Amino acid sequence: MRLILLAAIVGAGGWGTVRLTNVTYYRDVLPIMQEHCLSCHRPGQIAPISFLSYRQTRPWAEAIEHAVVTSKMPPWMGAMPFEHERGLSLQEIDTIEQWVREGAVAGDPRDAPPPAYEDEGGPRPCRGL
Ligand code: HEC
Repeated sequence: MRLILLAAIVGAGGWGTVRLTNVTYYRDVLPIMQEHCLSCHRPGQIAPISFLSYRQTRPWAEAIEHAVVTSKMPPWMGAMPFEHERGLSLQEIDTIEQWVREGAVAGDPRDAPPPAYEDEGGPRPCRGL
């Protein structure tokens, strides 16, 4: 298995430039949003934009990337040391960058994590597409 992985990586252009799978909203990005963004970015909360579904999130993909790369979002990062654990890890930021670079695709709704909020669409197929 390891050899096959290695062959795939080398064959596709070398370390660092390749991932074996594409980043998708449902599998990779939504869990990050649930943990770091949806507490504010859903209806009735302080953020003006809801990111509860792919449909709502997709138009903001570039803005989301910009916001996390510049640490603008989540808003308290850096400003309040005690809340630091709520900031994104470098790997999470990387994931979002990669997602946007690859065209911010939805992926398969069945890959979605369980809903974190009552008003979230959750993993039902086709929801939010
Ligand atoms: C503490 C609440 C809170 C959290 C958590 C939060 N946001 Fe925000 N967000 C806001 C508010 C309030 C605004 C509107 C005011 C502003 O733009 O600063 C906003 C605005 C935005 C915007 C609009 C464009 C911009 O840069 O102003 C984007 C994109 C964004 N947030 C993305 C995110 C992402 C991605 C996350 C998770 C990594 C996140 N936010 C987490 C409160 C939050």
